Amino acid sequence: MPTAPNLITISQAVELIRDNQVVALPTETVYGLFGLANSQIAVSRVFSIKNRPADNPLICHFRSIDQIRKYVSNIPEVIEFLLSRFAPGPLTVILNIPKNSPLSPALAGLSTVCCRIPNNELTLEILRTVNIPLFGPSANTSTRVSATSPDMVHDDLGDRISGIVDGGTTNIGLESTIIDYREGQIRILRPGAIGVVELENALEEFNDINIQRIIVKDNNSEVKTVVPGNKYRHYSPTVEVHRYQNQDINKKTAVAGFDEDIQKFLNSNKDSGDTTIKSLGSIHNLTEVSHNLYSNLASLDNLGVNQVYFLGYDLGQSSLAIAISNRLNKVILK
Ligand code: TXA
Ligand code: MG
Repeated sequence: MPTAPNLITISQAVELIRDNQVVALPTETVYGLFGLANSQIAVSRVFSIKNRPADNPLICHFRSIDQIRKYVSNIPEVIEFLLSRFAPGPLTVILNIPKNSPLSPALAGLSTVCCRIPNNELTLEILRTVNIPLFGPSANTSTRVSATSPDMVHDDLGDRISGIVDGGTTNIGLESTIIDYREGQIRILRPGAIGVVELENALEEFNDINIQRIIVKDNNSEVKTVVPGNKYRHYSPTVEVHRYQNQDINKKTAVAGFDEDIQKFLNSNKDSGDTTIKSLGSIHNLTEVSHNLYSNLASLDNLGVNQVYFLGYDLGQSSLAIAISNRLNKVILK
């Protein structure tokens, strides 16, 4: 019998956080593991709960732009503008911190902090009540998929955390977009629901000719250096997932992909009647695909197979398409 998640109320979460404990809270992207960003005790706890490499800094969550301002060296005007448009929301900005920052326990020695204001009323209420920035890495053991529901948090982390605030399944299902601003250029270092199109549309109103085109840096060495988490394997089920290249399909293998590609596969493999097939949804409904992506990837471990072949796909160039492909590229082994 699976055990039930240890659900707690908002006021219990506040008490536990003040006591240096780590709790799982919902955001609009994925669930996170939250605790006091200025507490070495809480930070050590979350690193051991997640089994997170020590050089991987923790993203910090704030109640407001005013609170961010108190903890960083300065907020460049263009970043302030983007925050005013997209926060609370799935946009994370990298900013410099002053020397001797109270947040340094969370930052793994870096002189910058990843700042985000999550768009979830329960978690915002906790942030307002505690009134100290909270770290909030995704709620999962390192390398595994991020949790998007209390059950997923519980299945992965069980009693290692002090409790879970139930906010239902998360709306977006993919982690926030991380941007960095230097020398007149905004770089997307982790793609998410807010992408080039949304940022450029917003910036039309900002109207600063010095801002160059926004660029997505995806998986190159710069991204791995600037965002330490990008160099680790991520978002992955335990079962091996390989790209489908006409390998033999048998009882110990499954095929996964998008509806349209599965249909093509079935049409050209008429004898595949008893193959286990896992769909991630239709390429024409990427909102739904991203909402369910991590629960679908986690469920690949329950198919009873030891190999999954992922069918080729083309999701297009929308912001969600780029974000979903970015995650799948980390799951599908060559
Ligand atoms: O949507 C999200 O951002 C979720 C929710 C819970 O807020 N959080 C999240 O946290 O995805 P995490 O730790 O799984 O991913 C944050 C990434 C990591 O890859 C980490 O290396 C990077 O942000 N990061 C954190 N602080 C950084 C910093 N100061 N400079 C560069 N990268 C940083
Ligand atoms: Mg993560």
